[in-house]
This record gives sequence, C-alpha cells and structure tokens, in this order.
Amino acid sequence: MRTSLFEVDRRMHLHPMAIPARVAEEGPSIIARAEGATLFTATGERIIDLSAGLSNVNIGYANAQVCDAAHAAMKALSFCHTLHGRSHPQIIELIDKLSAIMPASFRCFAFGVSGSDAIELAVKMALWHWRILGKPAKRKIISRRKSYHGNTIFASSLTGIPVYREMFGLTFDDHVVEADSTDWYNEGRPLSRAEFAQRLVDRLDALIMREGAENIAAFLGDPIQTGGLVQLPPDDYWPEVERLCRQHDILLIGDEVISGFGKTGRMFGFESFDFAPDLVVMAKGLSSGYFPISAVAIGDRVAAVAQKENSLFAHVLTNCGHPVGAAVALANIDVIEKHGLVARVADELEPLLRLKLAMLGRNPAIGEVRCCGVLGAIEFDLGRIDPAFGPSASEAVRDRFSQVALDMGVYLRAGTICLPMTITREELDEAFDILGNALDVAVTEAITNGARRG
Ligand SMILES: Cc1ncc(COP(=O)(O)O)c(C=O)c1O
Repeated sequence: MRTSLFEVDRRMHLHPMAIPARVAEEGPSIIARAEGATLFTATGERIIDLSAGLSNVNIGYANAQVCDAAHAAMKALSFCHTLHGRSHPQIIELIDKLSAIMPASFRCFAFGVSGSDAIELAVKMALWHWRILGKPAKRKIISRRKSYHGNTIFASSLTGIPVYREMFGLTFDDHVVEADSTDWYNEGRPLSRAEFAQRLVDRLDALIMREGAENIAAFLGDPIQTGGLVQLPPDDYWPEVERLCRQHDILLIGDEVISGFGKTGRMFGFESFDFAPDLVVMAKGLSSGYFPISAVAIGDRVAAVAQKENSLFAHVLTNCGHPVGAAVALANIDVIEKHGLVARVADELEPLLRLKLAMLGRNPAIGEVRCCGVLGAIEFDLGRIDPAFGPSASEAVRDRFSQVALDMGVYLRAGTICLPMTITREELDEAFDILGNALDVAVTEAITNGARRG
C-alpha cells in the first residue's frame, strides 16, 4: 500500500516549489500524521518541525479543541456564502473575537481563503478607497525587494523575489514600485543599523517623490521581512515608514500573514514594531493551518469610506467567510488565549531561541543569527572562513545543513526557524542538539570536500 501511494504521487503529483523532474526521479517524502510539534513519516520516522508547517501551525498539530470545533461547525452548517448581506453565527463570532484582540481602530473585517487572495483584497480595498474619494490616479503599490506576499499573479508581482515571476513572464511593473529590503547583513553593512535605517527612510522618501504621492495608493510590508531569511527591521524603521505614509497620504498595508497571532511575542507584529497600519492582512496563524481562511482587518480611515459607499463591493470568493474556517479560527484564537501562548513566546521561547541560536552562531561559518519571538534565522557566510567562498557556497552549505538536519530528525527551511508556539522545552533541546550536529557535518563537508566556490 505504501509503495503504491508513493508511486501514485511520484508519477502524478505536480508538487509546488519543487523541480518536477527531480520529484519524478526521487519520489515524494510522505508525512502520515502529526501531533504537537512532531511529524511522523509514512515509514514511522519522527521529525521535530522547526518550521511550524509553513510558519502557520502556531498552536501545533492535532489540537483536540480545534478538531472538535471543525467537526461541530461542519455538522451544523457545512457551507454558507456571505454574499448580498447573508451571514452566519460562526463568522459573526469570529468578527467579534478579532475586534476584541485588535486595537479599537479595527472594527470592519472581510474574509478570504489564503494569504495571497487577502493581500490582493487589501490592495483592492486601497485602490477602491482612492477611487471613491475621487483620486483614481493613486494606483501604484510600494512593496519591498525580498518581501514575499503570495503567489497569485498580482501577489507574485508584489513579491520582491524575481523567481516567482520568471516562470510565466507577466508583471505589473506599472503598478508595483520596489523599495529597499531591510536585509542589513547583506545590503546594509558596514553601516550601523541606525545609519541603515536612515538610508532606508531617505531612499523611500526619494522614491515617493520620484513616483509622485498622487500616484501611490499604498505601501505594503510585513513587519519582519520573511521572504528568504527572517529580516528584523532596524529600530525606528516602521515608525518612520508610517510617518512618510501619513505625510504623503499613502495607505499602509501590514502583511501579518506570518507575524500575526503571537509569533513576535505580541498578538500582531505591528504591536512589536510600533506602527499603525490602515489595513491588516492575516492568514496562516489565524487558523494554525487547520482550515484555509484569511482576513483583512480594515481600519477606521478606510472603513469609514467603504461602509458608507452606495455602489457594489464587487469582490467574492465562493469560500470566503466559510463557517468551518470561522469556527476553526475562533477555536484557534481561544487556544492561543487560554494557554497564554503569546506571553509564552515573549517570556520563554524567545529567550531560549536566542540562546540556542547564539550557540550555533559560534560556528565560524555563521555570519549572524537573529530572532524575534519564535522566528529565527541563521545567516551562513563561508566567506568568513575563506574569502574564496562566495554567496552560492554559503547557500549550498545552508541547504546541506537543512538536509542533514532532516535526515537526523529535524525539519527547518533554508536557515529559517519558526517554532510552533506549543513546542516543549525537551523538544527544543533535542532539536537544537541535532542542529548542532548537522551544522558540524555540513560545514566540515563543505570545507574538506571542496564546496563550490563562487
Ligand atoms: C508574508 C506572507 N504574505 C503572504 C503570503 C501568502 O499566503 P498564502 O500562501 O496563504 O497565499 C505568505 C505565504 O507564505 C507570506 O509569508
């Protein structure tokens, strides 16, 4: 049976973010079940998940309360659309809960099914806002190099990572304006972090002048840039971005798809970095991956215009506002609150992660380690050992490190970590012991076996 599942997948499944010919040759890796912070493969191996799925499984796998809530909602109301003013108790209760955990300026919500469509919905809201106000020329969106905002066609254009557009060769260059990334390690040094922040702000100001504020609808950013490696913003960066947006009458869209629901040690990343977005996009941790659901929280300024509008809000996805998704999200937030998971991230997990990353960071192949809440990054820099090693050698050893770690029973993606907020102390200790060993193996191999230089 197992062999046949393997074969069916190998022959007929086009996997996302995979090289098809390679999967066809090697076959898939099948995960059969998961519990807490641990995955179990079809052949019974145990893997500690230091990626929390795709940075979405905030409360860990197989939480009984969430599973029961999904079951009950499915039995009560397996589907109900929310068009033309129709509603249902599950979505109303979720709205009530979201408004309670957000600042008082957010009292209007719209729903989607993924982070990507919610990003596009937030952009639509911004464009619609300016059209209603008689400023249709405000149609450009500023997003940042190296930021990931999703994979639908427009969200791919908002994503500042070219590989996501290259395969289909269609861009929205007239509408998307690229600002700088907050990647200090690779783009800021030798400036201090404070000098780097000043440069980012000065260049953003210049960019707004160049494009013309009268043409710019919104600035889109995730509080911590998580495309590629977790990039922490320098102090004062976000308050300054907000100041520029206010000064130039540009809406600020906060992409909380990753940072939302506790991962930074606050419920939302904008609270950790001290800024006030006009629109907040949430997905992933909203349901911890138990059901596909996303939302846009619409701040007073935009809501005041939208909710008085007398023309059609012509936006819909069949499954937006799905009752099961809403019930799951509600139970998920209840679990986060009941178990004090946000405080646990701030008081327990972040200090532990910081310490453990610092220990890995003693390896000379590591240029920098960073973390905020449960999000962490390991910046490989083989050039510190021998300047003949270029960036591609560092990338290769980073990938090898992830592979060796996986073979030893720990999953992480490309040098980034996202702990499930429920991971136990024992699991964390075990996982980092393994990471230490995997690092030694990968770096020793790279040096002794002649890593690619370049
Ligand atoms: C910051 C950010 N925004 C948006 C998205 C898109 O979310 P989804 O994959 O649910 O469409 C992602 C997905 O990884 C993300 O990390």
